[in-house]
Amino acid sequence: MKNTAVYPGSFDPPTNGHLDVIARASRLFPRLIVAVTDNQNKTPTHTLEERLLMLRGITKNIPGVSVEIFSGLLVNYLKKKNARVIIRGLRAVSDFEYEFQLALMNRKLSPSIETVFLMPDEKYVYLSSSMVNEVARLGGSVDCFVPPLVRAQVIKKCRHSNP
Ligand code: PNS
Repeated sequence: MKNTAVYPGSFDPPTNGHLDVIARASRLFPRLIVAVTDNQNKTPTHTLEERLLMLRGITKNIPGVSVEIFSGLLVNYLKKKNARVIIRGLRAVSDFEYEFQLALMNRKLSPSIETVFLMPDEKYVYLSSSMVNEVARLGGSVDCFVPPLVRAQVIKKCRHSNP
């Protein structure tokens, strides 16, 4: 299925920047799978289940979008889904080196899979999931960084956690 794209990531938590990329990708591809990594090496703030619920909640009105968990190599997951396109958001030059490495590694592993980079609206270029968690943990407002559903989860999880 040529028209399926996969947007992989940690989404810990999903931000307005992620949602902006999802909306853009969904206008380009009739089917978009938002794929949450279950990478055991990272210790996420929000559980896999919580991230899945947040993503499903905030994307429920976007046509063609589904949310799944994936494990193992991303390119193997794409093959299983008959997908050929990886979507990644590119915010600033600071993202470039890692994204370049990731895209070329994935190309080496599977030459028929292409990575497509989408730029979020410029008002989100400074935004990151880890900063959202930190702002919430330290008592700041995250209202303009995440959708309301995510805000509730972030406050519940971070507000009373130890710095
Ligand atoms: O949101 P993130 O943390 O930048 O997402 C990184 C992610 C999940 C896209 C990347 O770590 C990934 O693809 N992990 C799966 C394992 C894999 O295929 N790695 C690439 C080859 S080393």
